[in-house]
Amino acid sequence: MSQRIYIFDTTLRDGEQVPGSQLTTEEKIVVAKELERLGVDVIEAGFPVSSPGDFRSVVEISKAVSEPVVCALSRAKKEDIDAAGEALKYAKRKRIHTGIGSSDIHIRNKFNSTRDQILEQAIAAVKHARTYVDDVEFYAEDAGRADLEFLARLTEAVIGAGATVVNIPDTTGYCLPDEYGQKIRYIYENVSNVHQAIISIHCHNDLGLATANTLAGIQAGARQVEVTINGIGERAGNTSLEEVVMALKVHQELGFETNIDARRLYPMSQLVSQMMRMPVQPNKAIVGRNAFAHSSGIHQDGFLKHSENYEIMNPHDVGVPESSIVLTARSGRHALKHRLELLGYRYDKPTLDTIYKRFLDMADIRKEVNDKDLMELVR
Ligand code: KIV
Ligand code: ZN
Repeated sequence: MSQRIYIFDTTLRDGEQVPGSQLTTEEKIVVAKELERLGVDVIEAGFPVSSPGDFRSVVEISKAVSEPVVCALSRAKKEDIDAAGEALKYAKRKRIHTGIGSSDIHIRNKFNSTRDQILEQAIAAVKHARTYVDDVEFYAEDAGRADLEFLARLTEAVIGAGATVVNIPDTTGYCLPDEYGQKIRYIYENVSNVHQAIISIHCHNDLGLATANTLAGIQAGARQVEVTINGIGERAGNTSLEEVVMALKVHQELGFETNIDARRLYPMSQLVSQMMRMPVQPNKAIVGRNAFAHSSGIHQDGFLKHSENYEIMNPHDVGVPESSIVLTARSGRHALKHRLELLGYRYDKPTLDTIYKRFLDMADIRKEVNDKDLMELVR
């Protein structure tokens, strides 16, 4: 039987930190309701102490959704936790996400503190958050660069204080997949109370490794992943929800499943891209414009013979209407013949050869030949 991986979506918190992509409360509610339909387990709705607008968004999202857990971020500070607890008042299922830096770089340069003081502050924060909610997640910020032994001590201490989930973030996107997987494994092997909590993964994409690191973390035992739609987020972004979900689906042999309705992935991606005014890069895995587009002659010929030759998933399964064959100067006769037939034109071989020569001349000039161009050509 497959093991369940919980999807913690932070599009509306970490994702929304992208400059120029801020959403109004009303827009956030639209996205939150779609995330609920998509099937995410947790929606991180905002950072209530940061602004009155973020506070209101958490309140309104709490009222708007009923299935997912609504989560509010805080630092390990009383006033932050109070704001998070207050903002979550109306949530049917609620979680406070509190935490503090765990690497020596953060402890020294950001908090001017010591490991022991950080431990104390972390325990106090978790205990205070537990006075508001039963479900408290602790984040050990910059765990990617933290000392392993200290990270294990911190994890054990916050679980002891009542944390139900412990997030081991690679905040700066520093880790390599093996290294990150080892970190999670170390925690499982060295934290005595680890099975009283869920270990969560939160990766940033500074080296383009967020999805690989997240998969390594899952294989090492973590059961919650923190992700965003289209991988948006601070700097190079967060782990992309659609990539992790589809990697687990395509690789059934790994033995994991999620609650995500994959056919909603593409519409969800489009919605977030439009609302946040962030175009999706054309070659983005799963949801990019070219993710199911075939343009070279060799690939087009193979794809037309059998789609599995060049596609590892069916576009319908992720909500993409159909695969496409892009006609360019790299296309072969097979692709041209196929497109002409779709337009209602059938030719014998010598005629098709003549049309193909003209097609190549046109493609060299126009780069991409669309249906209108083709009609002009055959006329
Ligand atoms: O990247 C990070 O460490 C975070 C925490 C606030 C969870 O976003
Ligand atoms: Zn983050």
